[in-house]
Amino acid sequence: VTETELETARARTERAAAAARLPPVGVIGAGRAGTVLALALERAGAEVVAVASRRRADASRLAGRLRPGALALAAEAVVDRVEVVVVAVPDDRLAALALRLAGLGRAWPDRVVVHCAGRFDRHVLGPLRASGVAVAALHPLAAMARPDPAQLDGVAAALDADPRADARVRRLARRMGLRPVALAPEQRAAYHAAAALAGSLPLILLAAAERVGRETGLPPALVAGLRPLLSGAVRNAERLGTAAALTGPAARGDAGTVAAHAAVLGRLDPALERLYRAATALTAARVAGAA
Ligand SMILES: NC(=O)c1ccc[n+]([C@@H]2O[C@H](COP(=O)([O-])OP(=O)(O)OC[C@H]3O[C@@H](n4cnc5c(N)ncnc54)[C@H](OP(=O)(O)O)[C@@H]3O)[C@@H](O)[C@H]2O)c1
Repeated sequence: VTETELETARARTERAAAAARLPPVGVIGAGRAGTVLALALERAGAEVVAVASRRRADASRLAGRLRPGALALAAEAVVDRVEVVVVAVPDDRLAALALRLAGLGRAWPDRVVVHCAGRFDRHVLGPLRASGVAVAALHPLAAMARPDPAQLDGVAAALDADPRADARVRRLARRMGLRPVALAPEQRAAYHAAAALAGSLPLILLAAAERVGRETGLPPALVAGLRPLLSGAVRNAERLGTAAALTGPAARGDAGTVAAHAAVLGRLDPALERLYRAATALTAARVAGAA
């Protein structure tokens, strides 16, 4: 091996390392999603330089979980220091935050600011474009309730980005373990409604089932069996498809059993009976191929 060949190989390795390097990032909003996303960014090899939150103590707590050197700063100081900012504040705070930051009149060329709210497309951050920022929305279809970045592995994420931000956000998302999928702004409302149906309603139904168990004095071991019942049904839907995995009296058309369930639920709480009747009506329509 000649000296020139060695030099060429070294240059190639350096180029590959530079291409693999992720930009410095910051996080605004040190809540549940902000924590998981910050941990996932670090796991991907990005340096999370700074964190902001409404309360400085929360930002410090999250910075303390990251690599030494991560700072707890004000939101604008985060944007000053990094190339990509992930915003994970409550949905209703996004527009005001974008307006406040834009109102500072700073120049932030080449920055990307990406929010992760399902409800809004990227344009909610639109005022920031006046500061030179490219904006994006990246919404992972994951329930981020625990501080564990593995929750993002293989998860699809709706991506809506300014053309200038698209490639950078896509790359960052992939490195975080996500599967970015382009979503048009006009499909946002339907997408988010679908995400709420699949992500939250099953747990609301589980809580209702556990309540029935508690309030009617069922043996605790059987009440405890309701959670694995739900996860087993979801696993079946993953393997077989949702329609084929559907079991139970409504799917079978056992009207007598459905009526008996509705009666016991109605005695406990009319709202539970209404919920059950609405869900079984949808199930019957689904089985008939109409829904
Ligand atoms: N958690 C999930 O599973 C999930 C999944 C997908 C998308 N998301 C999206 O992620 C975003 C955050 O949700 P979350 O569940 O993480 O909520 P969260 O746990 O309530 O966290 C929000 C954090 O933002 C802080 N905050 C509020 N206003 C702020 C401001 N103006 N500037 C800086 N920080 C501010 C809050 O501080 P205080 O507590 O002091 O108000 C809190 O620490 C939402 O847009 C949500 O739709 C969440």
